[in-house]
Amino acid sequence: MPAETLPTTKTATLAFEDKTVSLPVVSGSEQESAVDIQKLRAQTGLITMDPGFGNTGACKSAITFIDGEKGILRYRGYDIAELAEKSTFVEVAWLLLNGDLPKADELKGLTADITRHTLLNENFRRFFDALPKDAHPMPVCAAAVAALATFYQGDDGAGNTHDTVIRLIAKMPTLASYSYKHSIGQPFMYPVNKLDYASNFLHMMFATPCDDYEVDPVLAKAMDLLLIVHADHEQNCSTSTVRMVGSSQANLYASVSAGISALWGALHGGANQQVIEMLERIEADGGDAQKFVDRAKTKKDNSRLMGFGHRVYKNYDPRATILRKACVDVLKRLKMQSRQLDIAMKLEDIALKDEYFISHKLYPNVDFYSGIIYKAMGIPVNMFTVMFAIGRMPGWIAQWLESRQDPDNRIARPRQIYTGHTQRPYSPIEKR
Ligand code: ACO
Repeated sequence: MPAETLPTTKTATLAFEDKTVSLPVVSGSEQESAVDIQKLRAQTGLITMDPGFGNTGACKSAITFIDGEKGILRYRGYDIAELAEKSTFVEVAWLLLNGDLPKADELKGLTADITRHTLLNENFRRFFDALPKDAHPMPVCAAAVAALATFYQGDDGAGNTHDTVIRLIAKMPTLASYSYKHSIGQPFMYPVNKLDYASNFLHMMFATPCDDYEVDPVLAKAMDLLLIVHADHEQNCSTSTVRMVGSSQANLYASVSAGISALWGALHGGANQQVIEMLERIEADGGDAQKFVDRAKTKKDNSRLMGFGHRVYKNYDPRATILRKACVDVLKRLKMQSRQLDIAMKLEDIALKDEYFISHKLYPNVDFYSGIIYKAMGIPVNMFTVMFAIGRMPGWIAQWLESRQDPDNRIARPRQIYTGHTQRPYSPIEKR
């Protein structure tokens, strides 16, 4: 469902040297406005400078809406809290990909399609053998998703993308669990078609051929919830990467693989791993949350309160509210005490009253509580970001498809302000 052409509502005037230009101001459906600078360079010779793209709209999109000031997140107009309470991950995947909630037969069809494509080609199992046992599962998954393109070579994603979309959503949990099984030296578990998406993933992670394994429905529900809250987040670093790679007409596997690599970074999806490691450090250091908050405020210390702050949210990340509650529910269900949850809540309590965090508008983000749930479920810390990638898959795909269908889409090619040497003559090696 391509986004519509943006209506021009007003104009902005830019005066520079002896020129004055009028630039169109375009608006979206939630009244956010943007100065359209597409003709700026042609008219003035100027480009804009916006490192980190904090003020740059790279595309129009009808998929996800965020109001960071108010703490709002909606997929296709539906509030994230309502989806988290009433929907399922597969239904949300349909919603993101198609624009509306599915009818009963559509949901059944998608579920059946995904279930039928969870198996990997048997030859693919050997791919994992080539990698070291202690390989981090994020690059393993990035490489594996890129390698899927070699098995489906006719599928460039430009025309009939249906099978590619289904394959990526269906095979991602299989690839993720295989990367884990490889790291602990256990046999790969085949997918089980009678299980739902989240249960099947937990089965492939934790079952072995020697024992019966019953998936706990409460944990499966919590996993499904985690996948829903991660499913899309508009133009973040990894999604922009997927769009950027796709803008060169690279196929969907290659584009998503690049997105997984972008997600791996500590300032993006890697933060959930960093949060648990931070909580473990604080626990090992005696559990003094105040001391850590004080350190996080000290610039020269270079330590940040991981799981806090967000480029877009200047209010509580609505996903953190959902996961904070899920965290308490899961631990209760498992009859587990978590010293780390206590420390996390203490950190949050202190930070939310602290002048530095208040004035910098730093609130818990999605990663603050997700790691505690994963840990309670037995997911190893280095797999946390992989969980994020499984959840984000429908969002990446929906964004990629939208950009491919957008008639205004051009290859992404930013400009720069050059700060190197001006022209100088080549000097022969004996004279250097
Ligand atoms: N702890 C302490 N101070 C912080 C934190 C934090 N977690 N986050 C930002 N700040 C401070 C910065 O030091 C800076 O202070 P200054 O203006 O006094 O110099 C100010 O807040 C703005 O920070 P920036 O890094 O410029 O903000 P930006 O929008 O570029 O970064 C980011 C956002 C990367 C998320 C940042 O808040 C951060 O590093 N948080 C911790 C990592 C994290 O949790 N990442 C997950 C993000 S959610 C996701 O990707 C799924």
